[in-house]
Amino acid sequence: MRINDKLGARLQELGVALRPSVPLNEKTSLGIGGSTDQLLLRKFETIPDVMHLLANENIPHRFLGGGTNVLIADGELPYVVLHLPTSQPGMRVEGSAAYVDAAADLGGMVTFCAKRDLGGMEGLIGVPGSVGGALRMNAGAYGTQIGSYVREVELYRACTGKLETLRGNDIRFDYRHTSFAPDDVMLRVKLELPSKPYKEILAGIKICNEKRRASQPLNQKSAGCIFKNPPGGSAGRMIDELGLKGHRVGDAMVSDRHANFFVNVANASCADMLRLIDEVRERVRVTYGIELENEVIFWKN
Ligand code: EPU
Repeated sequence: MRINDKLGARLQELGVALRPSVPLNEKTSLGIGGSTDQLLLRKFETIPDVMHLLANENIPHRFLGGGTNVLIADGELPYVVLHLPTSQPGMRVEGSAAYVDAAADLGGMVTFCAKRDLGGMEGLIGVPGSVGGALRMNAGAYGTQIGSYVREVELYRACTGKLETLRGNDIRFDYRHTSFAPDDVMLRVKLELPSKPYKEILAGIKICNEKRRASQPLNQKSAGCIFKNPPGGSAGRMIDELGLKGHRVGDAMVSDRHANFFVNVANASCADMLRLIDEVRERVRVTYGIELENEVIFWKN
């Protein structure tokens, strides 16, 4: 979708930088996605005005965070993509509380806090993506989920058109699911973290990194796990048992390292990846009678 010059000028007055026709395959860890105009927001405070303007002009939009858990359609996209200010996202620690901008890198936040003797999040160290994306999905690994530490979230709520602050107790954090509305935009979070000596945290981080390196295809283009684990089961184990490691549709392939990671081995299209997802889901349904649910978020046109 293209923003016309007149609207572009009005957005610029609100401090938005406009980048025309950006290929989103360069912005996603899967290396998949079509093109559209990209709007870089410079200040949180202007978000309500920017959203109001886009709504008045009938411009559909989506917010893209770290791009590590999203599958975006091919071709010219019928919406623009918005980004939060990402240059030097704020992070600070006060006592046992950490205040972090949603655009910050998740791993960067874990090490920033660790250096100030605040731990608990060791398991999240290798999870790629932004803090905002992790909050929305309640990202987790190795027994840690970010939701356990959330005390407050500042966000833009599309339903009120305002910036608001929610208390942690008023947000539901479930397995890879939260009570945020799909169009809520995470802006900043306050976490309450247990004190731990840096050295101890570092040792925990090292163990998680080793486990991850041993079991996941970290040097290939992926969106992490494609499916959620069904209650009490493991999607990766089931797909592996079906002998589907290495199974391909075009350049989309079931990883031969971890069967719940689907990788883009060269120039996979979204259509390839979707077909692979459907084929694997169907095989699991037929054999195990379980309907796997996507973990990756598909941006349908
Ligand atoms: N397994 C296989 N074959 C495989 C993959 C796994 O047999 O190809 C077996 C493993 O041997 C193990 C079991 O399945 O016995 C579970 O595997 P693993 O420990 O790798 O954990 P997972 O359930 O597949 C979950 C998260 C990961 C997270 C790891 C570590 C989900 C969908 N996945 O994977 O998160 O990193 O635990 O805590 O919850 C993600 O969310 O994108 C993600 C990668």
